[in-house]
Amino acid sequence: LSAGDKSNVKAAFGKIGGQAEEYGAETLERMFAAYPQTKTYFPHFDLGKGSAQVKAHGKKVAAALVEAANNIDDIAGALSKLSDLHAQKLRVDPVNFKLLGQCFLVVVASRNPSLLTPEVHASLDKFLCAVGTVLTAKYR
Ligand code: HEM
Repeated sequence: LSAGDKSNVKAAFGKIGGQAEEYGAETLERMFAAYPQTKTYFPHFDLGKGSAQVKAHGKKVAAALVEAANNIDDIAGALSKLSDLHAQKLRVDPVNFKLLGQCFLVVVASRNPSLLTPEVHASLDKFLCAVGTVLTAKYR
């Protein structure tokens, strides 16, 4: 991520602000709808429309993304515990991180179209890739 990417990402999350939780929940809803194979990781969740579990999980995912954006110079450090969890316990196939990232971008595009200039789109895409790389870095 270049210096410009970092400032674009921080500015974008600044604009998303307090709505991050809703962005997170909608990202998951879209991921489960568009890529049903991702549902296999959540057999213990109610994935129905308006599910409280999906909302609660969306809030956690969004908080992790905000944490990563706030620590953009050390995403690996900021998400270290989450990286342990995804790699050692959850073992989510890395392809799924790209799907989640795509869905997050779609949520930004639909909720806040003016935010998603080509430059910001590219920077957010790089950021989401970096987060996915961190969360899948400890697989062995
Ligand atoms: C759990 C973040 C991608 C599957 C979690 C938690 C967070 C998180 C914050 C909760 C950890 C805790 O309770 O301590 C993220 C972020 C992602 C990402 C930031 C990418 C940007 C994925 C993907 C999948 C996935 C792509 C699978 C399709 C899970 C599962 C859990 C989990 C199954 C455990 C849920 C539960 O039982 O409560 N993730 N995650 N994650 N994540 Fe991820």
